[in-house]
Amino acid sequence: MAAMQNERLQAFVDEVAARTDLLQVVQAYVPLKRKGGRYWGCCPFHQEKTPSFSVEPEKGFFYCFGCHAGGNAFKFLSLIENISYFDAIKLQAEKLGIEMPRRKLSPAEEKRERERKDLLRVNEMARDFFHNCLTLTKIGEPGRAYLAKRGITEATIKAFSLGFAPPAWDKLSAAFQKRGVTEQLLLGSGLCLPRREGGGIYDRFRGRMMIPIADERGRVVGFGGRVLDDSVPKYLNTPETVLFNKRYLLFGLDRAHHAIVREGYAIIVEGYMDAIAVFGAGVENVVATLGTAFTQEHAKKLMRYATRLIFCYDSDEAGQSATIRALSILQNTGAEVSVLRVPDGKDPDEFIRKNGADAFRALTKQAVSLVDFRMEYVLSHTRHDTLSGKVQALHQMGPVFQGMRGGAMRTEYIKRLSSALMLEEDVVRDELARGTGYVEAEPARSPIRREVRRVDTALDKAGRVLIRLASEDSGKLSAAEAIVPLESVLGSVQLEIIAALKKGLPATELQGSLSDGASAELSRALVDEGLLAGRTEEEAWRDALRVLKKAYLNQQYMEHSQLAEKYLEAGNPAYRVELQRVEAIKHELEEMESV
Ligand code: GTP
Ligand code: MN
Repeated sequence: MAAMQNERLQAFVDEVAARTDLLQVVQAYVPLKRKGGRYWGCCPFHQEKTPSFSVEPEKGFFYCFGCHAGGNAFKFLSLIENISYFDAIKLQAEKLGIEMPRRKLSPAEEKRERERKDLLRVNEMARDFFHNCLTLTKIGEPGRAYLAKRGITEATIKAFSLGFAPPAWDKLSAAFQKRGVTEQLLLGSGLCLPRREGGGIYDRFRGRMMIPIADERGRVVGFGGRVLDDSVPKYLNTPETVLFNKRYLLFGLDRAHHAIVREGYAIIVEGYMDAIAVFGAGVENVVATLGTAFTQEHAKKLMRYATRLIFCYDSDEAGQSATIRALSILQNTGAEVSVLRVPDGKDPDEFIRKNGADAFRALTKQAVSLVDFRMEYVLSHTRHDTLSGKVQALHQMGPVFQGMRGGAMRTEYIKRLSSALMLEEDVVRDELARGTGYVEAEPARSPIRREVRRVDTALDKAGRVLIRLASEDSGKLSAAEAIVPLESVLGSVQLEIIAALKKGLPATELQGSLSDGASAELSRALVDEGLLAGRTEEEAWRDALRVLKKAYLNQQYMEHSQLAEKYLEAGNPAYRVELQRVEAIKHELEEMESV
């Protein structure tokens, strides 16, 4: 049964691969120009002005000579959309109208699926109920007045399907039950609660303005309800249901994601009303967390659309420390984070109401970098006039320095921090290095870039020649291994490719089974014309084996010399054997040189 499943899945993947036109896929994102048999454009994976990004439709690979990103059409999609390889296949299938073979659901799964559908349907009904109540009925009058007072336009009310819950105990439950919605479903959706006595149910949301909360596909999964006056609780949310999970949900993402892609960044605010106001002001790339902390899941979701995130939390103490927490969540995710501060103790909504949409749009241009924000925060939250305060401030700054790109920038910030703390720059540098395990090397922002940082040695090139030739004839691998143990000379990325080649996977599966780094390396091996450097394949192969063998011998030479030394020091006569080996290896190396 599972085998049958795999076969159908493989057939699906094969069909999508066969019908996918790499050129078309890439051109949807990158303008390309033809030159020779290749197409060229500016690489979408790193900043550049002259095109070093190439596509070879014949071979089915793209490759960037600048940042070495590479792979097939699915790899391209997964990198540019920030999704998994398999999700890229599904995305492409969707575009091509190829249906994915559906697994047969177990009865339990089927039941869950039905429950979700029912919940979605009842939520949608409730959204319409509240919205109609607000816009069409006399009961909705206080809601209309409240929204008008907050400066929320009719267009915004419509765009967000805002609503009003009648100030009564059973308006919704009675209406819905009449329409055949079960008590169980009303309770399960969180729209109603069980009566304490006498059975029956009553409405959770009463006399509140209602904000439907959708998932990123626009399906209503819950509600937030705000009181119209100062009573508490100010906000009431749908309780956690199978659909409503605040760790994952971001309010407004269904409307914002196009704008996030278009603008290249997302603005994150604390409250729904902030998101609604910011959106209403024409800044559409905005989302809000649902009164909870920003989570890793939120980050993941947003980074499918853009890696630049701008936090615009309330300027009160709570908002600022929430910003700091959010920033720490984003460490090492590759997100490029900055912070937008709203002046004079306001939240974005109040700021827009007071200063207008234009003023807010101008403000978005003034986001400060994470480092500036952090520095200001740390300096105002530590007693850095004392020595222990200074050390504490340095330690708190450590993580942001670790995430910083570029030496010039770091030097500049170290200068600023030293002068603010009144410490020598060297002391600051030392302390930062010590406190955080910070190393001088530039930190990587993505797996591809991480790969780029390594110097390209003769050994790397030899490994690449090997991979290129072995990808056409995997028999070559055993021939090479008979001469030199590959795992002792090649890096983990190339070894990953070699292990995959040994399995003899077809090309589509091969790319999918590789990590991003390995996938890029494979493309580089296949596409880089400089690799053979005017040699025939035969010559390149022989040269590569020589390089690999030499690397191996050098390694052995070191190893046995060290061993000999160790034995000698310990008075162990085994040192003689080791010395003999060392001599033999040296001899072999000399032979190689003389050929
Ligand atoms: P307004 O006062 O309507 O402008 O709301 P706000 O967006 O300024 O709210 P605030 O900054 O007080 O809170 C931010 C977010 O926290 C809100 O959007 C809610 O999601 C959540 N929140 C605030 N108060 C409550 C509450 O009493 N209960 C719950 N469950 N959530 C709340
Ligand atoms: Mn507010």
